[in-house]
Amino acid sequence: MQSTGSNSPDEAAAQPRQAQQQALPSGEEKIGLPLWLLAELTYRCPLQCPYCSNPLDFARQGAELGTDEWLRVISEARQLGAAQIGFSGGEPLVRADLADLIGESRRLGYYTNLITSGIGLTEQKIADFQRAGLDHIQISFQSSDEQVNNMLAGSSKAFAQKLAMARAVKAHDYPMVLNFVTHRHNIDHIDRIIELCIALEADFVELATCQFYGWAYLNREGLLPTREQLERAERVTNEYRDRLAAEGHPCKLIFVMPDYYEERPKPCMSGWGSLFLTVTPDGTALPCHGARQLPIAFPNVRDHDLRHIWYESFGFNRFRGRDWMPEPCRSCSEKDKDFGGCRCQAFMLTGDAANADPVCGKSPHHGLIVDARNEALHAIQPIQQLVFRNDKNSCRISGT
Ligand code: FES
Repeated sequence: MQSTGSNSPDEAAAQPRQAQQQALPSGEEKIGLPLWLLAELTYRCPLQCPYCSNPLDFARQGAELGTDEWLRVISEARQLGAAQIGFSGGEPLVRADLADLIGESRRLGYYTNLITSGIGLTEQKIADFQRAGLDHIQISFQSSDEQVNNMLAGSSKAFAQKLAMARAVKAHDYPMVLNFVTHRHNIDHIDRIIELCIALEADFVELATCQFYGWAYLNREGLLPTREQLERAERVTNEYRDRLAAEGHPCKLIFVMPDYYEERPKPCMSGWGSLFLTVTPDGTALPCHGARQLPIAFPNVRDHDLRHIWYESFGFNRFRGRDWMPEPCRSCSEKDKDFGGCRCQAFMLTGDAANADPVCGKSPHHGLIVDARNEALHAIQPIQQLVFRNDKNSCRISGT
């Protein structure tokens, strides 16, 4: 799975097709519904993006859930109120049962998204997914430049395949989202990226600057753009947005700044255990896709049903509400707006997930973010020196 940048569940989750809300047992009233289910079907992936948000030790995770187990998870989440499902990975296309999972999700009333690199997609599969009722396809690109794209993806054929599949998706009348994860190696070409998206007739373009989790955090020094690069990219995007609007062009551009250049943290996941539920390939259930690294024993769908996991488990309750907050969050007037920021980022940067997110200017650890910004001014690491996400590196890093 590539970093999507925003760490905010899609707003479409707030528009359930047929939200199937159940009367909650007493004591559960204050906990929101898990509206957004992210089904990480597999960690297998033909690409090797060095900014993937998958855990560094993905290669030593347990066996993937089987089809029947996924069907149970999908059904249980729907009964809890889930309205939108994203099929992700790794690369979800490597699962032979993907069309079946899409079909059952659609039958249950989910809005269904496929989040894919496009590698492994074929005209036949697009037709199969359409028949199964798939609502939405997002294809990720690494760059508008074929050579850079293929270098980052770790595949000499990736760019040509992505172009072909983007055209095929449009030919099947799908609303198409193109996702470009931007970083210091491609952000200066934002105009060429936007031109490519317009040529491919993308309906939505997400220009999401790398968020630093998983492999992106490992490679942060070689990926974090400078403030100057970001400001230029945002300015160019705004100019294109104005031009497209003046022409009545349907393409919508979404530009996501990295939180490393903010002074207040993002309300990550709209709050811990608030509406976002991830199930990983081996069945571990998480409040966000980055939480696996935290020193918390998260529950597994093989051991518990989702109702227990969502409402009762320690992991999902650990950072709900405000009682867990230390200072400066506890007395902050913005705590109900940003929830203290991102627990995973606090853990990665400070070693304690209960700390305020260091992105916040009020955090005593904010200097760590300032140091990273300063490092970006002098970083010279070429693409070839980034650590690529593959089995070999995962085993080496995790010591297996
Ligand atoms: Fe922000 Fe986990 S990624 S809470």
